[in-house]
Amino acid sequence: MQPLQKSYLALSDISKSFVGIPVLRNVNFDVRSGEVHALLGENGAGKSTLIKIMSGLFTPDSGIISVETKETRFTSTADAMRRGITTVYQELLLFPELSVAENILLGHSPRHAWGGIDWRGVHARARDLLDQLDSTDLDVSIKVRELSVAQRQRVEIAKALSYNARVLIMDEPTASLAQGDVRRLMSIVKNLRSRGVGIIYVSHRMPEIFALADRVTVLRDGQIIGTEPAHAVNEARLVTMMVGRPIETVFPKSEPIFGETTLEVHNLSSGSLVKDVSFSLRRGEILGVAGLVGSGRTELAHALFGLAPATAGTIDLKGTRVTIRTPSQARDLGIAYVPEDRGLQGLIKSMSVRENLSMAAFERNSKGIFIRFSYEKKRARNLIRRFNIKAKAGPNQPVGRLSGGNQQKVVLAKWLETNPEVLILDEPTRGIDVGAKAEIHRMIDELAKKGMSIILISSELPEVLGMSDRVLIMNNGRCTAIIDRENATPERIGAAMTVSQKAEAA
Ligand SMILES: Nc1ncnc2c1ncn2[C@@H]1O[C@H](COP(=O)(O)OP(=O)(O)OP(=O)(O)O)[C@@H](O)[C@H]1O
Ligand SMILES: [Mg+2]
Repeated sequence: MQPLQKSYLALSDISKSFVGIPVLRNVNFDVRSGEVHALLGENGAGKSTLIKIMSGLFTPDSGIISVETKETRFTSTADAMRRGITTVYQELLLFPELSVAENILLGHSPRHAWGGIDWRGVHARARDLLDQLDSTDLDVSIKVRELSVAQRQRVEIAKALSYNARVLIMDEPTASLAQGDVRRLMSIVKNLRSRGVGIIYVSHRMPEIFALADRVTVLRDGQIIGTEPAHAVNEARLVTMMVGRPIETVFPKSEPIFGETTLEVHNLSSGSLVKDVSFSLRRGEILGVAGLVGSGRTELAHALFGLAPATAGTIDLKGTRVTIRTPSQARDLGIAYVPEDRGLQGLIKSMSVRENLSMAAFERNSKGIFIRFSYEKKRARNLIRRFNIKAKAGPNQPVGRLSGGNQQKVVLAKWLETNPEVLILDEPTRGIDVGAKAEIHRMIDELAKKGMSIILISSELPEVLGMSDRVLIMNNGRCTAIIDRENATPERIGAAMTVSQKAEAA
């Protein structure tokens, strides 16, 4: 079949190794103007590496890059950008202390005839670009530090557009967005496509892929498994292509056996985002926590873990009143918290996978120095296998050199090993591929079966519905409902997430 349109950007036979370890092998990939081409693959498959080659950040070891059928090479990301190839990376790269307008036009601001920066022009141009993204509400003069993740991302996209983007590459753009922001981003992507921009879209979320993509390419272990029109494949087929075998995607939820009450929270308040929250949790129970971004879900976790201690209310653990003012107190009481932000709170990137895995369980391992070393090594290897952590260079590879999803698995593995009484998981499967996701769900179920009490915070409603015994809904810092598994429907949860509390606040 003839392609309808020539590719704007094409890679052929691209290979790349890091310190002798091949990460991409003979990759062919292209994007046409006005299409969304989704790039899929397990954690560590090589997606981000491929993207960094297309955006001029990495140079391939071999192979050819063409722009508008002309063979070329990118000398830098700026070079690629000048030729219309722009990227929104997995980790956003804005300057928090600069304004929105400055971030968008940094390095190529409109100038006066005499050479000085035309500030009025900068603001007008930034305004225009954001308006094109339906972001008329975003003030171009405020500092990026003050923006939400979703807003920062729109600034990144505006920045890309300021280079007259012909290709926009997005690496897991929805991984840290709430559902409302995801819908907004999806409409931005569709809009750009209709204006002729070619979009390369990396995501682990199937519904988005099917809603957006014209074509899909699957990468496995550095090699292209196939490129297909999106309408010609279904989810099961894509999963098989990614993982190499079919996998079960239903939630592995066992019939729960509840024990005694472990945690009882009464009228807990903390900061402005936890107000008067009460709930209880039994042994063997999984309590899902749903809510929009900014509803106070993470802040509730922070209050329970001593990161932002409660200012009012009470916490009882196994019938004893406790005060939790620091994370180490929380840990001593048997509470563990797996944060959502793997970069900042979960890991030390320069340290090895093995060292990171052993940190949380340090006390437990430190019976004697001899036991510790051999035990730690064995345990690390064990965890790497169980979680399918792809550390190509072995347990001594620095965590910062793992792919994004594999870093997330290290955070999770590290805390699950401490065997806590109450385990708080904040977005545990964000950025995790389908295979590993199923594995993590199975582990959560197993831990509950063993009697652990689990609080599962998630923006993915199917995950909350699939795994929870009860669902607590946060809305504007308050708990608006706690719904049993039998009665938890997307409609009821959605309603509790968005119900207005103005009347109550008055
Ligand atoms: N700078 C580096 N040095 C050594 N190895 C690296 C480096 N960057 C990436 N790798 C390795 O390359 C492989 C591919 O990583 P990449 O980040 O491209 O994966 P990915 O498909 O984007 O995964 P994810 O879904 O987790 O984001 C991984 O095994 C990773 O450890
Ligand atoms: Mg990646």
